[in-house]
Amino acid sequence: MPIRLLPETLVNRIAAGEVVERPAAAVKELVENALDAGARRIDVTLRDGGKALIQVVDDGGGMAAEELSLAVERHATSKLPGDDLLNIHTLGFRGEALPSIGAVSRLTITSRQPGSDSAWALTVEGGAKGRPVPAAHPVGTRIEVRDLFYATPARLKFLKTTRTETDHAVDVVQRLAMAHPDVAFTVADEGRTPLRLPAQTGTLNGEDPLLARLGAIMGREFQENALPIDARREGVRLYGHIGLPTLNKNTAAGQYLFVNGRPVRDKLLLGAVRGAYADFLARDRHPLLALFLDIPCEDVDVNVHPAKTEVRFRDQGLVRGLIVGALKHALAGAGHRASTTVGQAALASFRADGAKPIPQTAFQWQPQPHSGGGGSWPGITRPTAGQVEAARAFQAPMAAWEGPAPATAPAYTHSVLAEAPAYADAAPGPVSPGLAAAVAALAQTGADDVPDFPLGIARAQVHQTYIVSQTRDGMVIVDQHAAHERLVYERIKQSMVAQGVKRQMLLIPEVVELEEAAAARLAERSDELAELGLCLESFGTGAVVVREIPALLGAKADIKALVTDIADELAELGDQHALKERLEEVCSSMACHGSVRAGRVLTVGEMDALLREMEATPHSGQCNHGRPTYVELKLADIERLFGRR
Ligand SMILES: Nc1ncnc2c1ncn2[C@@H]1O[C@H](COP(=O)(O)OP(=O)(O)OP(=O)(O)O)[C@@H](O)[C@H]1O
Ligand SMILES: [Mg+2]
Repeated sequence: MPIRLLPETLVNRIAAGEVVERPAAAVKELVENALDAGARRIDVTLRDGGKALIQVVDDGGGMAAEELSLAVERHATSKLPGDDLLNIHTLGFRGEALPSIGAVSRLTITSRQPGSDSAWALTVEGGAKGRPVPAAHPVGTRIEVRDLFYATPARLKFLKTTRTETDHAVDVVQRLAMAHPDVAFTVADEGRTPLRLPAQTGTLNGEDPLLARLGAIMGREFQENALPIDARREGVRLYGHIGLPTLNKNTAAGQYLFVNGRPVRDKLLLGAVRGAYADFLARDRHPLLALFLDIPCEDVDVNVHPAKTEVRFRDQGLVRGLIVGALKHALAGAGHRASTTVGQAALASFRADGAKPIPQTAFQWQPQPHSGGGGSWPGITRPTAGQVEAARAFQAPMAAWEGPAPATAPAYTHSVLAEAPAYADAAPGPVSPGLAAAVAALAQTGADDVPDFPLGIARAQVHQTYIVSQTRDGMVIVDQHAAHERLVYERIKQSMVAQGVKRQMLLIPEVVELEEAAAARLAERSDELAELGLCLESFGTGAVVVREIPALLGAKADIKALVTDIADELAELGDQHALKERLEEVCSSMACHGSVRAGRVLTVGEMDALLREMEATPHSGQCNHGRPTYVELKLADIERLFGRR
């Protein structure tokens, strides 16, 4: 067959195959157009999940009659100032969406500009364009897409049930709505209104409009258990809200990421989020969050995906570093705070009838302004000298209680721990005088005279596993193993920072063969890797020789796999995380072995010391796997439980 140019309608249908994959994709394009036109209110109506009708009405700037004809032409756009693909401030820029939709449906556009005395309408049917005719419509634009894919029956066959298509459309609008809290949105589908979002202006009781919008979409639980993020680095800004680790899911579906207001599903961003939470969540659990990255247009390429859901960054290391740094900082600042849903779930399971849900507000966490990382709780009574002493005494023998380190963790005794007296294999000594004094002091504390500690004063240990403590206005139940594991983990990490990572010389240096560029990249970063305990140098072309490894990793470490992972990360991100993450993993399993077991009897002094240390330790609200370390029940809620209120 000879080569020929394809007819325009066919070209548009081919483009539609990429751009308009399903009704939700058309909804996305139309709502994006409305946002680009400056709309304050956008109403979407669907029939049969968008298969029979998609209608999008906006109150934006509209189009003049002659613009209507152009808008449905291929490659016609009002959005590319200076023809510069690196200077894109709008959601659209290709001039492709309307002609593509028009090629596979019956499309009618009705639009009116402010100051114009009439609206104009134009119809495109299966690619055949009509003429603009006068019509009646207020300022703004109404786009109707009927019988989507009637012109391409093959595509029609792939569509799912009405319900599924509607859900996809709602999801698309929700994502765009998160980035535009000040715009009102509705989605209606034959009598139902699955989405109704009023504009959030933020003037009412000083509420954060973004958080209010996120709450309306992601749920109240998220709103009440989210930490604000706002960080900048080299002209890039990251803001939004992230959920506490104890509020987690088994998929990443609750993670919403945006780049310059554009919803994206980006591997780099998701990876950075995983890295930031790695310390707090098991690998198969995922946090909830909505993060917005504002980055100068010239530093990001948005033209890499037909539906524009992927982007490419010029400096991936900068973006990853900003996300990991900002999230870790916020999580550290959250101190021992665990999600309020934990207490709520506990109370709900106490209720015999399980009927009425307990009002959520009753469990709202009272924000305690305290410095990031530290555990300073302004306005509370300072611990007595006895309590401080008890806390110290508590720290010393704890690891030793478990006896020598298990044989399966040889690194434990040869590592940084051997240097830290707190982890020496000393026999558990007699109770220190300070501890005894603390116990005596606590025994005298009357029930009405509870010092104001956030985690309260220990009252009992039950089932040799849980500490029950009394706070000023409620009670706390602590899982002693989970809590202590977290404390030991934080201590090991601190001592790693303070003393550096201990290295262990390999008896026989290991040669790892790699691609030439990868080997060179590793050699270039050898100083930085040495700081983390990995000593390597280049070994001819295309290989490195490893002489020392972090002692923490133990003798059986798979050096080749580690080095290859690091090389991959250096190539992909310009930065490596594999080594650090692996060290943290080892710390975490050491902490598990080194911490007080469930089933151990604790004295009151030891319990109180544990509580005080939790208050002073960042991240102590959850164990290394994202499970809570304690549950707090407010007296008011307990009273309600028994019908006293
Ligand atoms: N709701 C609307 N209100 C005002 N103008 C609109 C609206 N929808 C489309 N337009 C105009 O029609 C033009 C073409 O829209 P179309 O969606 O096809 O392309 P685009 O938005 O420029 O780029 P992309 O293909 O990337 O979406 C837009 O550039 C805009 O000027
Ligand atoms: Mg568009």
